[in-house]
Amino acid sequence: MDFKLKSVTKQIERGTISWSSPSNIALVKYWGKKDNQIPENPSISFTLDHCKTITTLSFSKKETLDDFSFDVFLEGELKESFKPKIATFFKRIEVYMPFLKDYHFKIETSNTFPHSSGIASSASGMSALALCLVSIEMELSDVTLSAVERSYYNKKASFLARLGSGSACRSIEGDLIVWGTHKDIEGSSDLFGVKYPYEVHQNFKNYQDTILLVDKGEKQVSSTVGHNLMHDHPYAERRFKQAHENLSTLIGIFKTGDVDAFIKIVESEALTLHAMMMTSMPYFILMKPNTLEIINKIWAYRNKTNSKVCFTLDAGANVHVLYPENEKDIVLEFIKTELVAYCQNGHYICDQIGFGAQQLVIEDQ
Ligand code: DP6
Repeated sequence: MDFKLKSVTKQIERGTISWSSPSNIALVKYWGKKDNQIPENPSISFTLDHCKTITTLSFSKKETLDDFSFDVFLEGELKESFKPKIATFFKRIEVYMPFLKDYHFKIETSNTFPHSSGIASSASGMSALALCLVSIEMELSDVTLSAVERSYYNKKASFLARLGSGSACRSIEGDLIVWGTHKDIEGSSDLFGVKYPYEVHQNFKNYQDTILLVDKGEKQVSSTVGHNLMHDHPYAERRFKQAHENLSTLIGIFKTGDVDAFIKIVESEALTLHAMMMTSMPYFILMKPNTLEIINKIWAYRNKTNSKVCFTLDAGANVHVLYPENEKDIVLEFIKTELVAYCQNGHYICDQIGFGAQQLVIEDQ
């Protein structure tokens, strides 16, 4: 109810809005959802800085109000294949944004990372689009932004982004975002992401994430299909409980700065995510031989040195190498000499924790 548009006070014929929104990497994973994009368990992620989607949304009043009307372009090229996901998104959010059928939309989107990198663009893409729509709502409602309003609209953007893609609700702000109700985290909600509200030790500030592109191909299984396989999964209930426990443990770890304990949770979460995929029916393996080579190299390097480098995985073969800022140079050297050989065409992306989406100024307006 809180997110239903209250009143439109201004008539606007046309306009253009642009937002840049980042990707994020989950430490405790979201895997399994109920109806209406409600997660089965809470998750927490680092917001990224360099991996972003930039979306420019142009809107103009149209004559007939019977259906949604939009075109979507990726890097300047019309993308018919993106339309069904966006149409579903519009249908889900129409009740909160009743003006959607009043306008024709031109959605122009581009990513700072290569589209065929195997990096999911749904988190950054859906959050950027949700933010553009919220900006239109603010224009129509003629709001001037106070701190209270800013927090309301960030929440609404996260709420809408979730209805586009679950993990997208963790991309509006930074640097650590929780999504999903957790008993020990005040303000946490299944409906939107919130900033992690407690103390975070200096060790976890500016954490680095180098993404090793092991396989840039299309995934064999979409995340939506994967989430649904948790419905009749033999280990589902125990896994959902474990996510709650891991998040509870992380609260203490963030406070004390215990990076060794952090590594245990983060790597276990990554492997558990893949274990869930391997034990669903149908079962599948998204890791590639090089994913395992990299994991073994990271473990050997950690044994040999005192490094705090670790890995996490998404629902794919690429490896996110996480490490504290004070190890930046030395770990990058390790990556270049020992890990890049396992990347497709030697490609990797250096990123770090970021602080959330930003509205871009449109010239000529
Ligand atoms: C493995 O957010 O892509 O990255 O809600 O169906 O769009 P939908 O799923 P999506 O799932 C991401 C799952 C994950 C783990 C995570 O980011 O928490």
